[in-house]
Amino acid sequence: MLHVKKFWFCLALIFVLRPAAGSAAKTELRLVGWRSEATQVWDRAIADFERQNPGLKVVREIGPSSSTQFHDLLTQKLKNRDPKLDVFFMDVIWPGEFASAGWALPLDRYFTAAEQNKFLEAPILANHYRQHVFGVPLFIDAGLLYYRKDLLAKYGFPAPRTWPELVETAKKILARERDPDLVGFSAQFKQYEGLVCNMMEYILANGGSLWDATRLVSTLDQPRALEAVRFVRDRIIGEISHRGILTYEEPESLALFTQGHAIFHRNWPYAWKIANDSETSKIAGKVGMMPLPGFPGKKGAATLGGWQLGISRFSTQPELAWRFVAFMTSAAIQKRIALATGRAPTRRALYDDPELLDAIPQLKSLLQIFRQAVPRPITPVYIPLSNIMQRYFSSILALPDADLLARAALATRDMNRVLDLLRERPPS
Ligand code: GLC
Repeated sequence: MLHVKKFWFCLALIFVLRPAAGSAAKTELRLVGWRSEATQVWDRAIADFERQNPGLKVVREIGPSSSTQFHDLLTQKLKNRDPKLDVFFMDVIWPGEFASAGWALPLDRYFTAAEQNKFLEAPILANHYRQHVFGVPLFIDAGLLYYRKDLLAKYGFPAPRTWPELVETAKKILARERDPDLVGFSAQFKQYEGLVCNMMEYILANGGSLWDATRLVSTLDQPRALEAVRFVRDRIIGEISHRGILTYEEPESLALFTQGHAIFHRNWPYAWKIANDSETSKIAGKVGMMPLPGFPGKKGAATLGGWQLGISRFSTQPELAWRFVAFMTSAAIQKRIALATGRAPTRRALYDDPELLDAIPQLKSLLQIFRQAVPRPITPVYIPLSNIMQRYFSSILALPDADLLARAALATRDMNRVLDLLRERPPS
């Protein structure tokens, strides 16, 4: 009797555990990224990769689009050595941290010097840490100024060359337009990584810096840096924007512009396509784009940004992960992404591609801007330094009466403590 029961039990088990007809178990490749504005182009590329690799499924986890929040999600997985993570998106400021923490796989074996040469230099440098390469650039970013061509033409103003000129132009247009919903300027001033990108542009343009990488000391308490921060607080936010801007990341600040509620707008290259899409933008065809302004007698500065694909050190299938990274960063896919989203490619040859130049005529001038864009300093302690700067900038911009010198001194002291960790200690 017992034997009969056992027999039926085993039969039932075999039935339950057998693979469903026709669905051979698939190999999964796990990707953590954020949602792009044109999801179909990514879906199609991933579907093509799956087709080229029968039996493979790319499983995607979509994280927040904010660099700071995405970093939290991703590093949690990496700290836990999550084996269910193969490939990830990586902001241009992370390779140093990911490399020194042992989270990102060195890619030298796959991403040869000859192949690296086909990419723009700045993102390749940013992907290096101690002579090893940890990521493959997917697209490149640099800060740009967008403006309402129609409004400037209406009142006969040229595009501004300096930040003070931009404030004056905006004030005059605001006074004449008398539109209560119109602001002079829209950008990213929320407390997150984007705030550092924006503030660095004013500080560098004014001849200042965030820190001195040789002496390993913060320079935020130096006169030029202080002057730039004061300018943003008193003139940009105080005179031509509204306090709502203090809660904006890229999407909200762009929406204000595309809805026709801002005269000037600072953003990355992808904003061009969205601002000129008449389906979603009320200002399509009325948009100008130019390098960011400087200060009187000083040239403007653009922060270098961009995203890479990296491979987790804890991936159990690095070869497969590499095949995927190589595919997604290939010229064919970068071109498709650029055509669909306006995101700027990282492969040099694409800047001479006739079809791309036709679709994005400003590509050549963007290349000049990328070549001059300034990277945020490469260091494994970038994130703690950025967090201190984010808190400092945000508190100054949000509290017009705050004591700038005192807060800058505090931020400088806190940054110096972190920078101290980078000093070579004599062996004890
Ligand atoms: C963009 C840039 C990235 C930057 C982020 C800040 O995504 O590519 O480098 O850190 O914006 O919001």
